[in-house]
Amino acid sequence: MRLLKISREKAILFHHLMSYKLFDMYKIVKKELLTPIICLMEVQASRLAASAQPGQFLIVRVNDKSERIPLTICDFDREKGTVTIVTQIVGASSRKICNLNEGDSFVDVVGPLGQASEFIHSTDEEIKGKRFLFVAGGLGTAPVYPQVKYLHSKGASVDVIIGSKNVDMLIFEEQMKAVCDNLYICTDDGSKGEKGLVTDVIKKLISQGKQYDQAVAIGPMIMMKFVTLTMKDFGIPLIVSLNTLMVDGTGMCGACRVTVGGKMKFACVDGPEFDAYQVDFDEAMRRQTIYKDVEMEADHKCRIGLNS
Ligand code: FES
Repeated sequence: MRLLKISREKAILFHHLMSYKLFDMYKIVKKELLTPIICLMEVQASRLAASAQPGQFLIVRVNDKSERIPLTICDFDREKGTVTIVTQIVGASSRKICNLNEGDSFVDVVGPLGQASEFIHSTDEEIKGKRFLFVAGGLGTAPVYPQVKYLHSKGASVDVIIGSKNVDMLIFEEQMKAVCDNLYICTDDGSKGEKGLVTDVIKKLISQGKQYDQAVAIGPMIMMKFVTLTMKDFGIPLIVSLNTLMVDGTGMCGACRVTVGGKMKFACVDGPEFDAYQVDFDEAMRRQTIYKDVEMEADHKCRIGLNS
């Protein structure tokens, strides 16, 4: 038998690479179905967890052949070395992710990517006592959570409005309650909280004398557009997250281009968070529809064998 001779340095390097791979194999340590079509996963990714900040995202690949999917980091635990992601089944790729189970692993998890939320750069003194209003729509509730948690831990006063289609699509209610001052819920059908839109709740709170120094809205593009129009009337600074525009999250596909303040920006590199008053929402919404047909085609299972 021929023995493979390698130097001691190479052996040590190989050992390090193997232990790194074994340590960070992106194993799903927890999976929870939040609704029939939304799942939460806690993934082992210690290096990523060590440097993740609210507002950032990561990219996962289910296997060697699957596409790269950018997902917002919804929580991280530096001690356990895990990051939490939340996925809603909207097409073929998200379905593949949600089909994974506890004990399975992603082939790749890359991040943290994108710019962290602006308040990360503020001192604790600057944050303490500041009044924030977060407006979360649907799946946008998940990325709102780490921001609220961070600000609450720094002594800010944080109110949160969650808007959902109905009570069955409501996520993160208990988690959010634990880290905010006041939680307001509204649903389209009135099955939980107030019946109506998040903009109705905003108007109500302001008319009751609530004052905010800063607001953040994350959710469907149409919701963020109308929250922006509403907040503008009250002169409250507003940040929005354009994470739903991203396709590959690498800065190369160009799908997330958006005009902000008259300049072309990439949501995955320059964002995903931007000053809401500078965003061209109509252009962003047009861009979102471009990939819908491709995703629907990928999700379509031909029953007469044409794509087998
Ligand atoms: Fe592809 Fe930003 S998501 S360039």
